[in-house]
Formats: sequence, C-alpha cells, structure tokens
Amino acid sequence: MRLQRTRTCGELRASDAGSSVVLNGWVDSVRDHGGLLFLELRDRYGYTQVVVDPERHPLVRELRAEFVVAVGGQVRLRPGDAKNAAKPTGEIEVEALDVELLNRSKTPPFEIVDDSKTREELRLEYRFLDLRRRPALNAIEFRGRMTGLIRRVMQDQQFIEIETPILMKTSPEGARDFLVPSRVQPGTVYGLPQSPQLFKQTLMVSGLDRYFQICKCFRDEDLRADRQPEFTQLDVEMSFVRQEDVFRVIERLMMTLYDELLGQKVSAPFPHLTYHEAMTRYGSDKPDTRFGLELAMVSDELRGSHFRVFQEALAKPHGCIPVLRIPDAEAIPRRLIDEAEGVAKSYGAKGLAWLKLTDGGATGGISKFVTEAELAVLRAKLNARTGDLLLFGADRFEIALTAIGQVRLHFGRALDLIDRSKTHLLWITDFPLFAWNPDEKRWEAMHHMFTAPRQELPAPGEDLSKVTGVLYDLVLNGNEIASGSIRIHRPEIQSRIFEHVGLTREEAEGKFGWFLRVLDYGAPPHGGIALGIDRMVMIMTGASSLRDTIAFPKTASGSCLMTDSPSVPDQRQLDELGILFQRRGPPEP
Ligand code: AMO
Ligand code: AMP
Repeated sequence: MRLQRTRTCGELRASDAGSSVVLNGWVDSVRDHGGLLFLELRDRYGYTQVVVDPERHPLVRELRAEFVVAVGGQVRLRPGDAKNAAKPTGEIEVEALDVELLNRSKTPPFEIVDDSKTREELRLEYRFLDLRRRPALNAIEFRGRMTGLIRRVMQDQQFIEIETPILMKTSPEGARDFLVPSRVQPGTVYGLPQSPQLFKQTLMVSGLDRYFQICKCFRDEDLRADRQPEFTQLDVEMSFVRQEDVFRVIERLMMTLYDELLGQKVSAPFPHLTYHEAMTRYGSDKPDTRFGLELAMVSDELRGSHFRVFQEALAKPHGCIPVLRIPDAEAIPRRLIDEAEGVAKSYGAKGLAWLKLTDGGATGGISKFVTEAELAVLRAKLNARTGDLLLFGADRFEIALTAIGQVRLHFGRALDLIDRSKTHLLWITDFPLFAWNPDEKRWEAMHHMFTAPRQELPAPGEDLSKVTGVLYDLVLNGNEIASGSIRIHRPEIQSRIFEHVGLTREEAEGKFGWFLRVLDYGAPPHGGIALGIDRMVMIMTGASSLRDTIAFPKTASGSCLMTDSPSVPDQRQLDELGILFQRRGPPEP
C-alpha cells in the first residue's frame, strides 16, 4: 500500500478546502459524467465525493462498487449547485491526483444501501457486507459506546470488573444448559453459564463487595424476537445493601447512558409499581405506561351476574373480572375487536367478552347478558359514557389480567396511542417468589432460587402464592430490561427454598452443595441485578429485532448463517470425546 490515509471519509468540511489529503475506503458508487468520474468513497466514518479525470487515471474505469481504493488529492469547495446540505461532507469534494487500487471485490449479492429491502436471511449470510450499511453499523457502534460508558460509570462507583468462568458446573434453572463435553474426563460435561449468578454471590462472600461484569450468557430456550441463545448482560452484585441501593446505582447508569448516548434527560428515582399494582392496573408485569387505558377490576360489581362466563370465572380460585374501557369507540371497527379476541386467546383466555354502551343500554357482544342495573353500576364505577367500548377478561387472576393487558396493548398500538418520543423507566417490585407449574404440579422459583423471601416461609406443601420476594425488574417502555433481587445469605433458608421447589436433599446437595458451603462461611447480606444489554441497545436505537444489535447474531432456529453453525462434527472429534449420537436431524415431537 502506497497511499495511507491521512483523513477519514466522514470528516472533511468547507474549512478543509485547499488541503492535501489521502483517503482510504470502499467504492460506494461510481457515476460517469462524460469527461469526469464521480466516486463516492465510504468508510466507517462517512462518505466523501471524489472527482477523477479518467484520462489521467485510466485505472478508475475498472472500479466497481465495493472495490477498496486509496485516493490522494486536494479538497475543494463544490460549485454552488452541486452542494449537498443533507451530507456532512456535502460542501466539498476531493479532486484526485493519485489513485491506488487496494483490492477488488466480487459483485455483492445485494446493494449496500441504508434502506435495504433484501431479505434478512441473505443479509445474515453476508453479515460482513450487511455491516457496511449505515443503520447496521450504527447499532453496533452504539453498542460499543454503551459498553464503554457502562464500564466508566460502574468503575466511578467503585465496582470491580471480574470475569467468571464460561466452562462451569451445569445447573439447569429456567432454561436448558448448553453442554460442553470434557475430553480429559470422559463422560462428564461442563455447562455454559445461563448467568454468573452463583459466582457473583460467591464473590460477595469473598469480600469483593461491588462486582460487575459485561458477560455472555447462554440459554438453550425457544427463541423469540427479544431472545437470543447467547446474549450479553451487565451483571452486578453488591454487599451490605438494600433494594434501594441497587436502584440508585442502576438509575445513575441509565441517566448517564440516556444523556451521553441520546442527549436525553431522564429523571430519577424512577417510579415504582408493585407486581400486584402493575398487573391490576396494566395487566402486565412489564407495563407500557407511555399511554393510559388503565384497567379496572369489576369482580365485585358482577358477582351476581347470570352470565355463565362471569359466574364460572368467579368460581375459580383467584378468579376475577378485569375490564378495559376504550372511550369514544363508535368508530372502532368490529375487525379490531375480533383481532383483540385472537390476542386474548393466544394468551390463554377462553374468549373476550365485550359490549358498547348506548344511550339506552348496551349493544354488541355480550350486551344481552348484562342487566340494566349492572350497566348502571359499571357506568358509575368506570366513569363510562355512551360510545365507550368495554372489554372484559374473566378467569384466574394471572390469565384474565395478562389477556386483557395484551388487549390493552393491541388497542394502544392500533389506535396509535403510544407516544414513542417518551422514555418510561420504572421499577416493578414485590414479585411473588414462587409460581405454580401446572404441568409438573409443583412450585418453582418465579425468578431464581436465590432470592430472599419477604415473609416467613410456610411449611412445604402449603400454598406459596402469597410469598413475595425482594425481587425487582426494571422496565423500559414496556420491555423488561433488567431483573434482580436481594439474595438469601443464610444457608438454612437457602436449603428450605430448595425443599419448597421440590429438590430432594440429595439433588440439592449434588447441584448446589458447593454453594451451600460457601454460604456457611460468613456470607454478607447482598443483592444485585442483571441488565440485558442487547435489549437496551434494541430499545434505545429503535431497532426492531435483537439481531440488529448483535454483530453476528443467530436466527430463530439458533443458526449462524454466515458460518453455517451449528454443524456436524468430525468423527475424530466425537471419538476423542467418546460421543455417539443417538439420532441426527430435528428432535422428535
Ligand atoms: P434474568 O434471567 O431475568 O436474570 O436476565 C436478566 C436480563 O437479561 C436479559 N435476557 C435476555 N436477553 C436476550 N436474550 C435472552 N435469551 C435473554 N434472557 C434474559 C433480559 C433480562 O431482564 N442472574 C439473574 C439476575 C440477577 O438476579 O442478578 C438473571 O440472569 O433483559
Ligand atoms: P360463549 O358463551 O362461550 O360463546 O362466550 C360468550 C362471549 O364471552 C364471547 O364473546 C366469548 O369470547 C366471551 N368469553 C368466553 N369465555 C371468556 C372468558 N373466560 N373471558 C372473557 N370472555 C370470555
């Protein structure tokens, strides 16, 4: 390489006119204007227009998009009518005096343009080219600036960055573990961490006091748009703290990130909602509070109802009837209500009962099952008027509220009620510690088994639904971005929790015996949190998928299309590990 860059393609301005520069970059486009060629040169920093005389530099006739070139030349002001105010470098161009071809490129399988219509599979297969597109590059740059800032803010608050092992003891919790067979100890495996939970707690017992790590976590779970099999957490743990101390650290971090990355002020402390409040007011433990449409509970008002659906719901344990009122709904088409019923059903509801209030009474849906007296009570309780649409859930607490909460979101989106310029950060607190798993007929930890209970634990086998934990989530614009808790630091309470979730003494010892012994040696009160970095980048950049926030992401089926993984291993590798596959191909249903 003869011509090494002195400036980047994003920085030249009118004030640079007259200076000699060398630019290195990729050919974004070539335009032939008769006697002159216009090259648009691109690098990470931007675009610069280069003007070349092909008579003097015949080489440029060969240039195609994505060729790598070096240009030496002089910066000059563009003539008035050629100025481009939309581009940062639009006032100048570089007159080429010397051109060097650094490398050729095949014709890319898609055009490198901001607004790419190319299907995602092809972009992921050629992700290295996709990353040359400005929006893709922006998200990755944003992420890099975010992790840099996180380190600074955490270190400023006396946190120490500590790496924990990737090859570790397998301990399936919420999701399945990814397993790594050991060659040296045949027949044994490591698990990849679903999170560094127990290591970070152990660091507190060691006295390390304030820990953080930006770490990869691995979970073999069914993937959705907001989930990846490997993702990144900002993992945090602190000793001698209460919930509020954790909140202050994270609030300071979020304020700095919004301020320095987006120039946006967010104020702290963030509002708090208990899990129960969030569920009853919004039908979600991650409510989008950027719009209203709060729910109301009308179980008491409808207790005498003769409508079978309401009767059956109230007869269930924790049965209830939440209602969503959409004001001035005359113009809402039936289609939207039918869609909403589909949404409710996809979240486990049996249906969606609804009616519209009219001058004389009600119409549509279940109006014929509701008496005049009931309508009057509903109108008074909900402050409802003629023209309002009422949508009812009727089921057990979680199902009814979750379904109506999703219906609320559906109308919020469909009626364009969500103010996307707002940033709403809020803490959800006091989650139940346990959730009933109806398939396995046992209680399991709502978050994880290391969270401190707020109340005395009832005897094993008793109803655990009333026990709450010192357990909190951080919600950003209706997305859970972080989760944490104050932990159990007494070994006897930890053992009791294991008992409550149905682990036998032997199972608990086999899986977590090492950790119970850690707690035996002076574990301080401690707590922490983990933030999903991919999700934060997604929301803060307005990306539509987690994949856009990750340099080399995986598809919904866990594949990397660029490298074609996972792949079939060599027989030799399998022999060394002593592995024999029982079958290959998709899992049996
Ligand atoms: P949790 O499992 O709630 O808590 O995870 C914390 C945060 O990580 C993000 N996250 C994910 N992001 C992308 N893809 C996934 N598959 C995925 N799973 C989780 C979410 C979530 O809020 N050890 C505890 C934390 C603690 O108690 O300190 C933990 O891992 O944003
Ligand atoms: P059905 O008598 O089952 O046809 O239901 C009458 C109306 O009530 C329909 O609009 C259903 O969608 C609705 N519905 C049925 N079950 C429920 C439920 N559990 N919660 C809310 N609405 C329901």
